[in-house]
Amino acid sequence: MSLDRRDFLKITLIGSAAILTGAAESATAGVKKEVRVMPYAAKDYAKLIGMEGFSETLLKNHFTLYQGYVTNTNKVLDTLDQMLKDGKTGAPEFAELKRRLGWEFNGMRLHEYYFENLGGKSGLDKGGKLAKKLAEGFGSYEAWEKDFKATGTMRGIGWVALYQDNQSGRLINFWINEHDVSHPSGCSLILIMDVFEHAFMLDYGLKRADYIEAFFKNIDWRAAEARLK
Ligand SMILES: [Fe+2]
Repeated sequence: MSLDRRDFLKITLIGSAAILTGAAESATAGVKKEVRVMPYAAKDYAKLIGMEGFSETLLKNHFTLYQGYVTNTNKVLDTLDQMLKDGKTGAPEFAELKRRLGWEFNGMRLHEYYFENLGGKSGLDKGGKLAKKLAEGFGSYEAWEKDFKATGTMRGIGWVALYQDNQSGRLINFWINEHDVSHPSGCSLILIMDVFEHAFMLDYGLKRADYIEAFFKNIDWRAAEARLK
């Protein structure tokens, strides 16, 4: 489905002229209003170009890959929406697209978290809230870092994600397989590192550990700490 031919304008019965980002509909006052369902828009991370240890070519390629996830998330959501309207939810194509949605959506969103926790100019505030929580969860900051880096050097493609359990407040490092497997339910993402090969191979070849060192030199700790509950 071409993005160009979508107009995202939907006529529905609602009681408000609010701009929605979902497809929620209600029939309250019986007044016809136009609701604009906005597609996701790729964000601009060009400010990261020039970051030490990351070549311009690698970053530009990475931005292009990210933009592809944004495009595909919109396409999948749009196609599923149309299939729902057309009564095609029993089709195997609907099921397969539903399965794909988490992969594309997370491919978009995780890259946003990743680029947004890069470009930092200062180290972790060792007296700050995040440093304290890391020490609580792992015994020390150093133990957390060792665990995070070790997770990043595991074989496979995916992400290393520091999550905060919203129920206990505990911080835990997770391996995310590809984009969508083993995200912990009810947790908030604090820091994420891409370890797909496209994130480092152009600059570091097989030396993933060297990329991880470069990543650590550029973490925006303030962005990570701001995600903490
Ligand atoms: Fe990536």
